[in-house]
Amino acid sequence: MKSRPRVRFLYGTAWKENETQRLTELALQQGFRGIDTANQRRHYHEAAVGQAISAAIARGFVTRDDLFLQTKFTFQRGQDHRLPYDPAAPVSIQVEQSFASSLKHLGTEVIDSYLMHGPSQRVGLAADDWAAWRAMEAIHDSGRAYLLGVSNVSLEQLQLLCREARVQPRFVQNRCYAVQSWDRRIREFCSAHEIVYQGFSLLTANREVLARPELIKIAKRHDRTVSQIAFRFTLDVGMLPLTGTNDADHMRADLDVLSFRLEPDEVEQIEQLAVR
Ligand SMILES: NC(=O)c1ccc[n+]([C@@H]2O[C@H](COP(=O)([O-])OP(=O)(O)OC[C@H]3O[C@@H](n4cnc5c(N)ncnc54)[C@H](OP(=O)(O)O)[C@@H]3O)[C@@H](O)[C@H]2O)c1
Repeated sequence: MKSRPRVRFLYGTAWKENETQRLTELALQQGFRGIDTANQRRHYHEAAVGQAISAAIARGFVTRDDLFLQTKFTFQRGQDHRLPYDPAAPVSIQVEQSFASSLKHLGTEVIDSYLMHGPSQRVGLAADDWAAWRAMEAIHDSGRAYLLGVSNVSLEQLQLLCREARVQPRFVQNRCYAVQSWDRRIREFCSAHEIVYQGFSLLTANREVLARPELIKIAKRHDRTVSQIAFRFTLDVGMLPLTGTNDADHMRADLDVLSFRLEPDEVEQIEQLAVR
């Protein structure tokens, strides 16, 4: 396997509609090298992400090898009428069709990370989930996806997947709630199984915790914003954070968190914030 860039922050491309190309290009310009998307037209415009990537490459400020590209297979339940596959086809064929369409949208021959957007049911893994995972394993075997992962997954589902998967998941992408100790139980399982935990909704799902005076004090001490402290905290506990900011200043502020560290007692304090 070719060595891939080690990304420390992912730029998420959901909900940008007609602004997807401009904002993705702006994010690349500001220095993001990891891009998260999905072949789910309801929330993402994957083809526009691809156009941003081609434009950035053509303008010469990135090469394909600098980039970490991640996309997802989404079951029909999570889609609208704009499906990237034939809904009457077996799930294994749907995955292959969705993946082929992602390669086309993104103008690449290889995806760095291919995720199952979420299991088809809340508890356990159904036959369709296994059919999708086996098809993803075949894509990995063919060399068209370097790494596989799963999103919106419970600890129990992740354990099941790891027990039976031939190609192990290397990423988990979940909504990260501070009130659940920042998804601590899944993060612990991930670190024991060489899985990188990707957290999303880090700011939007944790507004109350982010307003706590302890956090404001830490932000003042580092001369950073509370949002920056939250993102830095996620890095210090080993997460790969996502941001989908639409604002160039916030893009810079988000990337700036790579340039400082929190003290261990501050990390501990933030981890415990919602528990008290
Ligand atoms: N797997 C899944 O099911 C799933 C679900 C949801 C999201 N995701 C992925 O995760 C990505 C991120 O989504 P998200 O839910 O985390 O939310 P988001 O869309 O990134 O929203 C983040 C919010 O935080 C603000 N923000 C960002 N940086 C800031 C800063 N430095 N200071 C102040 N405000 C800041 C943004 O406002 P401004 O725009 O004004 O900066 C925005 O309101 C998505 O684009 C998608 O790729 C995946």
